[in-house]
Order: sequence, then C-alpha cells, then structure tokens
Amino acid sequence: MPFQSIAHRGASALAPENTLASFEKAIELGFDYIELDVRLSKDKQLVVIHDADVQRTTDGEGQIEYFTVKDLKKLDAGSWFSPAFAGEKIPLLNEVLTRYSGKIGIIIEMKSPENHPGMTEILADTLKWFKSSSQIKVQSFHVNELKKFHQLAPKIPAGLLLSKPLDLFHLASYRDFASFLSVHHLLLSKSFINQAELFGYEIYSWTISKQYQFADMQRLGVQGIISDDEKRLPDSIMYV
Ligand code: G3P
Ligand code: CA
Repeated sequence: MPFQSIAHRGASALAPENTLASFEKAIELGFDYIELDVRLSKDKQLVVIHDADVQRTTDGEGQIEYFTVKDLKKLDAGSWFSPAFAGEKIPLLNEVLTRYSGKIGIIIEMKSPENHPGMTEILADTLKWFKSSSQIKVQSFHVNELKKFHQLAPKIPAGLLLSKPLDLFHLASYRDFASFLSVHHLLLSKSFINQAELFGYEIYSWTISKQYQFADMQRLGVQGIISDDEKRLPDSIMYV
C-alpha cells in the first residue's frame, strides 16, 4: 500500500534542518510533506526551529523565547551544517506557509506548547483560513494543547506524537481530537496498528533512516513515513 513520505525537519540529512534550504531539498526529492517544528519568539511570533535554544543550529546563544524575530533573523542557521549553507536564516512559520502551502504538504509540530502560553491559540489563528484540503496538519506530544488546538481549528487535522505505548482506553478517547498518530517506530506492531485503524487513525512512523526500517514499516502498513532523506528509500518501496 502506498504511503506518504514526510521529510523530517525538511530533508535534514542533506541540508540544515528547519530551513528553507531543507524544505527546497524535500520538494526536489519528491517528498509528499515537510515536517517542521515551531516555537514562540519573545515578540510572540511562530518561528521554525527544533531546540529551545539556538546553540546547536545557529551561530548564536540563548533561549528562543528571549529573542525577538529581528534578532533571530541576524543568526546564521546554515554554517553549522556546512559552509555551503552559510547565511540560511531561521524561517518564520508565516514565511513557510506563504512559500509552500499548496506546493507540498506541511506537518507543523508545536514544541512545548504547555510551557508557552498563547502558542496554541496563535497557531490556530494562523491556520484557521486554511481548508482541510490544503494538506496542512498539526502534531504535538502534548494531549491537552492538541485538544485545545482541535477545538480552535477543527478543520486542520491534528495528530498526537507518541514515544510511549498507549492503552486502549486512551486510544479510543484521543480520537475525539486526533485524526492521526505519529509513533516512534520501535513502538509499532501489527496489533497496535490494527487497533488504531479500527478507531480510524492514520499512522505515521518516525524517524526512519535505514532501508530495513522502511521495509518493516511498509510491511506493517503505516500511512506515512517520517524520514530525513528519501534517497535512502529503496526504489521498490519509494514508488509503490
Ligand atoms: O515527527 C516526529 C518527530 O519530529 C518528533 O521528534 O525531536 O524530531 O521533533 P523531533
Ligand atoms: Ca518534530
């Protein structure tokens, strides 16, 4: 069965994660979706970055929440990966939506929304003009914030990230607000997928980087595979 290929933080094995360069690369490689992470800046704008601080992926130092967008934009988000990407900037979510919605699907992960009051509301407000057909989805590890997001923007599919097993009771009750589950690949089994599909969830698995893992995921029948580099997909699986 075909699955959606989802570029984890963009094509992050080939370009600096969560930058326009990694999203362009994902489009070039033919991914169906990009996955990206958002956090809230000091001036309450959604910025695309994974970590809570800028140290690992830029030439700066400090927590995102203490930077204004103007100051975040001064940072180099590409050189840490390779000099070829010097000068890449941390994108705003709005810039990504303007540039890519309609061209590639976008899965937005809210990072630590429970610690950043307003993040969920700002994201829901940003996305409320998009139709459910626009291939924009939102995911989070945080149940209550995801539930809130679904109430505020019910047309945008919401998905729960799972890094721990989920019992049947919660699997059933989370279906009220979540339409997909993004699951760490080691948690996946045929019985879990059968149960989840009975409730109507789509299942995406993360983060897959080895060919045997793609084969396992295809055998299990997941609907989406979150990967850093589609080049590692065997041709026979890539073009099902
Ligand atoms: O989509 C799954 C994955 O993005 C969750 O982990 O740390 O890469 O955001 P992380
Ligand atoms: Ca993520």
